Amino acid sequence: MQTTRRPFVAGNWKMNGSKQLVSDVQKALDAAGIAECDCVVCPPYPFIAGFTDLANVGVQNVSALDNGAHTGEVSAQMVAELGVRYAIIGHSERRADNHESNDIVAHKVHKALQLGLTPILCVGESLQTRESGKLYEFIAEQLDAVIRLTGIEQFAKIVVAYEPIWAIGTGKTASPQQAQDVHAFIRGHLARQNAEIAESIRIIYGGSVKAANAKELFSQPDVDGGLIGGASLDPQEFIKICQAAN
Ligand code: 13P
Repeated sequence: MQTTRRPFVAGNWKMNGSKQLVSDVQKALDAAGIAECDCVVCPPYPFIAGFTDLANVGVQNVSALDNGAHTGEVSAQMVAELGVRYAIIGHSERRADNHESNDIVAHKVHKALQLGLTPILCVGESLQTRESGKLYEFIAEQLDAVIRLTGIEQFAKIVVAYEPIWAIGTGKTASPQQAQDVHAFIRGHLARQNAEIAESIRIIYGGSVKAANAKELFSQPDVDGGLIGGASLDPQEFIKICQAAN
């Protein structure tokens, strides 16, 4: 990891958690006092208000639309008004469960940026795509859909999360080299349009990260932290992962 890029670790609770977990994670974060890493928690919407410092909280999705008649949706405007800083956008589970295309994801990123949120833009391939040899093409298109709409300059305000679908929730982590290869590709792809932004953008890895493998993954030159699912539901395990990036 480059010393100029501040490490970034986010916990994605997905549709898990409780008021008790909010309290336990908040206490663990307060006690750990992690200073050299942006350490963010992304709980489901109902639990957001339980955290004391919303600047270190993110949501797992925002609508691409403005406030209006869209039952069940939550706008970027509402999230920003709360004081929340981050929004995970384009997670593979939402792309699959909610049919979020690259185009929809791009519009969500655009909306989040307009409201001053920092999007955590998720990209990543299925095993089938990887084995078909179309890995880099696939990732490039996921990035390009956003670049076309927002412009490359906006990537100065984005965190990219590389999450290979085959590594999510499977216990089958990408090897540090596999992660590094794709992270380097992403950085190189962005660099063709803006070298400075590519050098400074944080690219984090997600997919079965735990305390036991975090250090090795985060020590790769282009891996700037992690997006943590299951392990973020265990406060002590999550703290250890943040400390690995610290
Ligand atoms: P796991 O850490 O549970 O594999 O989930 C990764 C993920 O999808 C984070 O967004």
